[in-house]
Amino acid sequence: MGKALEGVRVLDMTHVQSGPSATQILAWLGADVVKIEAPTGDITRKQLRDLPDVDSLYFTMLNCNKRSVTLNMKSEEGKRIFTEMLPKFDILAENFGPGAVDRMGFTWERLQEINPRLIYASIKGFGEGPYTHFKAYEVVAQAMGGSMSTTGFEDGPPLATGAQIGDSGTGMHAVAGILAALYQREHTGRGQRVTVAMQHAVLNLCRVKLRDQQRLEHGPLAEYPNEEFGDEVPRSGNASGGGQPGWAVKCAPGGPNDYIYVIVQPVGWEPITKLIGRPELADDPEWNTPEARLDKLDKMFQLIEEWSIGHGKWEVLARLNEHNIPCGPVLSTKEIIEDTSLADNGMVVNVDHPKRGEFKTVGCPIKLSDSTVDVERSPLLGEHNEDLYMRELGLDEAQYTEFKANGVI
Ligand SMILES: CC(C)(COP(=O)(O)OP(=O)(O)OC[C@H]1O[C@@H](n2cnc3c(N)ncnc32)[C@H](O)[C@@H]1OP(=O)(O)O)[C@@H](O)C(=O)NCCC(=O)NCCS
Repeated sequence: MGKALEGVRVLDMTHVQSGPSATQILAWLGADVVKIEAPTGDITRKQLRDLPDVDSLYFTMLNCNKRSVTLNMKSEEGKRIFTEMLPKFDILAENFGPGAVDRMGFTWERLQEINPRLIYASIKGFGEGPYTHFKAYEVVAQAMGGSMSTTGFEDGPPLATGAQIGDSGTGMHAVAGILAALYQREHTGRGQRVTVAMQHAVLNLCRVKLRDQQRLEHGPLAEYPNEEFGDEVPRSGNASGGGQPGWAVKCAPGGPNDYIYVIVQPVGWEPITKLIGRPELADDPEWNTPEARLDKLDKMFQLIEEWSIGHGKWEVLARLNEHNIPCGPVLSTKEIIEDTSLADNGMVVNVDHPKRGEFKTVGCPIKLSDSTVDVERSPLLGEHNEDLYMRELGLDEAQYTEFKANGVI
């Protein structure tokens, strides 16, 4: 079976997480992704190592299905080789600190001169303005994109979420931009610049909180559990704050992840009252409409918890789903990595690696019926130097050896 992006070639100058998460998706969709690393390698190869002298899981889980070449972009020969490579590629992706690629001598204008069909994708922390020149990491973007101020409990500090919405979330936005630019190139013949700022991507994911910021102007947010409202959207714990109320209720035996998130749709109320042993509340005007329950959501979830605490979360999941009540047990990372349905869906996959042996990674969440994803291991540093420099660019053995010896590759 062919792959959706077969024939598309990506020069991947990304590092750490945000950029690599984007180019890994492109590789999974069939693009030939060639990662260019400084001869010292992407810093994450060595970060958070669990085994000595072996590429970290940080690296191996974000760089599958890519090839790796080393190239010193600060050497004149390195710049020349890069210039020779560019016309052979469709996409250049990078997420260095602001201005790094320009400082290498490759402004957007210069890149267009070399390859007018090139799509040049950059991830930065911020858009144009006061923060343009600032570096950014995951939680910086969460802080400035609206996530931290709205995450946590009312009486606690702002919290970071474990979901990497600033890094991988931005990466997914970058994929959308790159694919749109590829499609537009079909009509125009021209490449274009794709830029995504981490702050913007997080804000896009926090859209509903700006909805609520504006709703606040017209009164308190009744769907929030908070009792007092100022002029900013407050942290609302585990409340969805959306159209249907939800909360995480405790289950047996009371461990740190023995919780289930339950959503009470209007149609779910009657079966819930029966399940929790309070059938009289189904017709009680104090309880039998969403409006009647709105000012006592905490009490409502307390009643549900009084029932759920006597059962394990998997049993509660089954019982609620018998009545089509939307809910989700809080799964620990251990439960997720051992989950057979996620494995069956190709979402937790085993990959063999020549240095570390078998490891698990998260598979591709985008499923195409005509383009299946085979997750292949990440490349070793410079593993494909000979492929690219000798077989594709035609360096002879002597040049190749010389470039290796003097740190160009
Ligand atoms: C993530 C980040 C903070 C890391 O900062 P950093 O470790 O200081 O690295 P930078 O990206 O700023 O700089 C990379 C340097 O390596 C150099 N470099 C990169 N690839 C190279 C290569 N192949 N050959 C030679 N030098 C290379 C760059 O030229 C740059 O040097 P310079 O600053 O002297 O011009 C920064 O890259 C950043 O803000 N990126 C954009 C936002 C982002 O993606 N953040 C999330 C990452 S998960």
